[in-house]
Amino acid sequence: MERPRFQYNERGLRVRNKEKSRYVSLPSLTMLLAGCMIGVFLPSTMLQQNKTPDINEWISTQDKAKAPVAPVAVVQEENAVPSLRRSLQDEENATDSTDAQKRVMEQFSLLSSQSIPTPTTPYVMKTPKLPDSHRKKILITGGAGFVGSHLVDKLMQEGHEVIVMDNFFTGQKKNIMHWMQHPNFSLIVHDVTEPITLEVDQIYHLACPASPPHYQYNPVKTIKTSTMGTINMLGLAKRIKARMLLTSTSEIYGDPKEHPQKESYWGNVNTVGPRSCYDEGKRVAETMMYSYRNQNNVDVRVARIFNTFGPRMHPNDGRVVSNFIIQSLQNKPMTIYGDGKNTRSFQYVSDLVDGLHALMNGDYDMPVNLGNPDEFTVADFAQKIKTMTNSESEILFLEKSQDDPSQRRPSIETAKEKIGWEPKVHVDEGLKHAIKYFKSVLDADGEIIPTGPGAAKPKGGSAGQVSGGGVKTVEE
Ligand SMILES: NC(=O)c1ccc[n+]([C@@H]2O[C@H](COP(=O)([O-])OP(=O)(O)OC[C@H]3O[C@@H](n4cnc5c(N)ncnc54)[C@H](O)[C@@H]3O)[C@@H](O)[C@H]2O)c1
Repeated sequence: MERPRFQYNERGLRVRNKEKSRYVSLPSLTMLLAGCMIGVFLPSTMLQQNKTPDINEWISTQDKAKAPVAPVAVVQEENAVPSLRRSLQDEENATDSTDAQKRVMEQFSLLSSQSIPTPTTPYVMKTPKLPDSHRKKILITGGAGFVGSHLVDKLMQEGHEVIVMDNFFTGQKKNIMHWMQHPNFSLIVHDVTEPITLEVDQIYHLACPASPPHYQYNPVKTIKTSTMGTINMLGLAKRIKARMLLTSTSEIYGDPKEHPQKESYWGNVNTVGPRSCYDEGKRVAETMMYSYRNQNNVDVRVARIFNTFGPRMHPNDGRVVSNFIIQSLQNKPMTIYGDGKNTRSFQYVSDLVDGLHALMNGDYDMPVNLGNPDEFTVADFAQKIKTMTNSESEILFLEKSQDDPSQRRPSIETAKEKIGWEPKVHVDEGLKHAIKYFKSVLDADGEIIPTGPGAAKPKGGSAGQVSGGGVKTVEE
């Protein structure tokens, strides 16, 4: 009589190996499967070189959709890859059961510091093993967004345990996809306006839409995210005694009367304009940070971030850099709101991430500007991108947006003195990476309308309705 394929007894659930007619326990089969996947399916060079693949290189191959796709990891016994058969056989033939045990332990140890490849992320993301005393548990709210996902890369590559909490309002899963199967990485899909209980050592609080079209889409929600979200994170930081860093913004200076802007400048913000939901939200979030520090001894850090650009910016961000690059790559008109004489300074995302890291791990707890002081007029910047992309786009001047600041440039003396940070990447170098990234996005997605009436809107939440001179909002 044919023996059943599966057996359940005091040794647990076991599956029969057809050729040998013997049963193998499911846990060891699972382990062997995982081991075989690592040994067989991965690009062998990665393992031989024993190094973490460069994230940007990996992302660019991923975006071109040319990355080799690993076989699906569901292995039926009849179709099992030869090495799996060998492993099963080895286990059965092992004269000394400690051999098999040793192999299993080796595979366990391997799996504790690298990801399992999947069809969508075929590369192994390998990270250093930090001793317990050095390894931190770090929460990043908004970690699936542009800046957050680069911060995730840095902290994961250092060997820490990273928890991303995001509601995917403007974040994209593809930004963090490569870490999904890594044992040090967790994703919590959660809205920061709702309380949450976790145990972590540090909190980087980034969750908040950052570009004008995104934060003006639902201004009430933007205010809630900055206020209720920050209160929730501060409550958590207070309870678990975690250090918390807030990503504030140069927007708290409004349309500045002081140039360049030092941290001591109090700003010039319209409290009822279309940008106020973001500007005032961040200003009150800063106030909350220092109220919790002064009243409850919460260990706080505040970064005031100036315009940042790089790969993984949302194509419909509506920000100057992504707009110009996407428009010029498609030879469409490059749109400037106003006369183009207003100035901006742009920092590359890796510099910002280094700055956030230095601030979080340093002793200085007052606000710090993080930005690149190289200043351009918007018109000159458009021309620079047009030249770099060999574009035939015309440059089109449209009506100035309400409350658009006329000049922006950070004073970074505090960052230099207190946290030993200054930007390293020249704007031209950063632009090359960003252009390459947006080329790959255009290759994959086809036409993109980055700004204006035809641009895609964020998914989810209710939109503010723009009418007449102001923004009428709809409660979420
Ligand atoms: N990029 C810049 O130039 C810049 C400049 C100044 C300040 N900042 C600040 O840096 C942070 C990150 O900005 P970014 O450019 O990466 O923006 P982003 O829009 O790409 O990322 C924001 C992330 O927060 C998430 N999020 C939004 N609301 C949320 C909510 N209620 N609950 C949970 N998650 C939520 C989004 O889904 C997204 O993943 C923001 O706090 C922003 O204010 C950025």
